[in-house]
Amino acid sequence: MTNPPAADITITVNDAEHTLSVRHHWSLLDALRDALGLTGAKRGCDRGECGACTVLLDGRPVNACQVLALRAAGGRVLTVEGLAPAGELSPLQQAFLDEDGGQCGFCTPGFVMAARALLDANPAPTDAEIREALSGNLCRCNAYGRILASVRAAAASAS
Ligand code: FES
Ligand code: FES
Repeated sequence: MTNPPAADITITVNDAEHTLSVRHHWSLLDALRDALGLTGAKRGCDRGECGACTVLLDGRPVNACQVLALRAAGGRVLTVEGLAPAGELSPLQQAFLDEDGGQCGFCTPGFVMAARALLDANPAPTDAEIREALSGNLCRCNAYGRILASVRAAAASAS
């Protein structure tokens, strides 16, 4: 069997421009994790159901496993690695830490990125708005209460 064809794309990830050779069937998650070594976005279900792979593409939250890398060509991607300089935490990440917003932590990058998109658009969300914005993200450890508290605290600290 022959390998599927590859194509070169240019993509900006965390403010750095990259030219990558990607296979036509690769997802944006494949490109981030396997080509760029950015493993913050997690591969949970790989079928658009868990939100563990959430990143921002041109400012909007997407499931990176459901976006073809070719479709993301020319786009601007923000991953959890880009929220703060290396070794530091953004205020939102700090709120997750302070409020115990994760247990095993596998889902945390996805929740943080979904919350980032929410707070960018709506800095003072209600609990209902937080729940709605995070409704595409699943936590197998059932830490939903602490996750809600984390986003609530991040919003309060920014206001
Ligand atoms: S890994 Fe993408 S939605 Fe689950
Ligand atoms: S903290 Fe373990 S899956 Fe959410």
